[in-house]
Amino acid sequence: MCGIIGYLGGKPAKNILIDGLKKLEYRGYDSAGICVLEKGGFIINKKVGPVASLEKALKQEKIEGVIGIAHTRWATHGVPSERNAHPHFDCQHEITVVHNGIIENYQALKKILIKEGHQFSSETDSEVLAHLIEKFYRGNLETAVSKALALIEGSYGLVALSVKENKLVAARRSSPLLLGIGKHETFIASDIPALLKYTKRVVYLKDGDLAIIDAKGYKIKNLNGQKMDRQVEDVKMSAAQIEKKGFKHFMLKEVFEQPQSLNNLLSGRVKDNKIKLSVKVGPKDFEKIIIVACGTSWHSALIGKYLIEEIARIPVEVDYASEFRYRQPLIKLTDLIIAISQSGETADTLAALREAEKQGAKTLGIVNVVGSTMTREVGSGIYLHAGPEIGVASTKAFSSQVGALLLFALYLKQEKHEKLDPRLLADLKRLPAIVEQTLKVDKEVKKIALKFKNTDHFLYLGRGLNFPVALEGALKLKEISYIHAEGYPAAEIKHGPIALIDEKMPVVFIATKNDLSEKIISNMQEVKARGGKIIAVVDQDYGYIAKLADYLIKVPVVNKLFSPIVNVIPLQLLAYHIADRKGLNVDKPRNLAKSVTVE
Ligand code: G6P
Repeated sequence: MCGIIGYLGGKPAKNILIDGLKKLEYRGYDSAGICVLEKGGFIINKKVGPVASLEKALKQEKIEGVIGIAHTRWATHGVPSERNAHPHFDCQHEITVVHNGIIENYQALKKILIKEGHQFSSETDSEVLAHLIEKFYRGNLETAVSKALALIEGSYGLVALSVKENKLVAARRSSPLLLGIGKHETFIASDIPALLKYTKRVVYLKDGDLAIIDAKGYKIKNLNGQKMDRQVEDVKMSAAQIEKKGFKHFMLKEVFEQPQSLNNLLSGRVKDNKIKLSVKVGPKDFEKIIIVACGTSWHSALIGKYLIEEIARIPVEVDYASEFRYRQPLIKLTDLIIAISQSGETADTLAALREAEKQGAKTLGIVNVVGSTMTREVGSGIYLHAGPEIGVASTKAFSSQVGALLLFALYLKQEKHEKLDPRLLADLKRLPAIVEQTLKVDKEVKKIALKFKNTDHFLYLGRGLNFPVALEGALKLKEISYIHAEGYPAAEIKHGPIALIDEKMPVVFIATKNDLSEKIISNMQEVKARGGKIIAVVDQDYGYIAKLADYLIKVPVVNKLFSPIVNVIPLQLLAYHIADRKGLNVDKPRNLAKSVTVE
């Protein structure tokens, strides 16, 4: 969950590296560092805090070197500090390395290296790499990196540099890296946004690849020195796509992008009263579905269970990927495992997927980031095409994940030769327009947010399809406003949460009309009787609710199956405005990272 950028070309590397780091900050931002090779020596700078601190420190420095590496960190081993920030070095400062991932056997390796006289200056696992490479270095960085990696257990995306050679050597195992191919210059980065300003031609490295970059270009080999052929691909994303487009925060921009992201999801997939998906599995291939995911993606998985069971009548289990991978899951050859992930890089979800594949189950990925590790490992998949999501709190990816699950549920029904309701499909096509209309709640929600910015706790209640929406609303608030919030199925409040209710407790009810509306109303009465403040998300026939609720948020009427996509919008906005009013760093909340590539 850290960001890497490397450069070798004809221009001074410093500004290119700093610029790349800024685009990668969403991957980690507790410290940042840079190393440029100049006149046979390293110029090193590291700073705690955002990339801006590093940029400021380097502003007046005249650094002309044309080869360099840089890193923005999210701490895993060792506190955020200059010592622990990358790049890391060996004792003589002859080798430097930036690294993403985890070296699992670093303690054993460190012990041996210390015995051999190496002195360590950080608490990180990554520093071991610099010392190991130095130990094996005999004038050829490529050989030294290969020898070092032969001893490593764990995951890495790394770039190494020696004072003695004008080259960069990069390697990947379970942590993404890609090359950017420019004119007489080559870039290496952990993610596309770092490169987009300079080139759209990229080469995705695969696990086990070693890339050697010098003035002549690049070569890709495996760790045994055999040449590997990797395609150059054109990135379709534009640099403008990752700018804030005038919104105060990426999160707000992404909330407002939902009509577009849903349009991207649906385009070409609902046609001639049919669902068109290029997945390689159908209802004949499995008897049960198990969905694995983490965080917000796990909430969309829960909604997926309701949708698939109701529409396609196929049983679905949902599990946290982190639990599934370690509980010796009972996986049958007749199971389909669906992994849901915005990034396609979440370590636990990847591990769960690999476990399922090892046991012979069929797999399907629902992923946003094109070319991510998950998309390369999964049997087949549904891309969200939601565009880059930069705000740490996931928003547009969530609605697109739910949309993708809805498409898949309808697809399964269709492949079972059951008729799809053409009116439902027509409504589905109108969903982006309905979401556009829903976004008009923003003004009202902002006013409500003002009243609750000093609240310490929140409860979110929903039923059926909207129970996971309640969980997601509570998660959004926790993540970015640091207010304690819990989501519950509304009927459960009598079994505990009701004890918390008093006049200081706001309760958000997702109360759009469905078969359980009567029951939601009686839960509301229970809250009202205890003085709780009620914020109700409603659509139609809400006359009685209006009497009970302190605040109403009106959303358009939609088919019940689409309601989670519509109902989550006011909750995303409520969390956003409360956090913004509190003056918090909405896009980069404390202690969180966008993509959790370690367990
Ligand atoms: C992190 C992010 C969440 C995200 C979760 C799963 O915790 O902060 O927003 O939901 O990872 O990520 P994924 O990329 O697998 O959906």
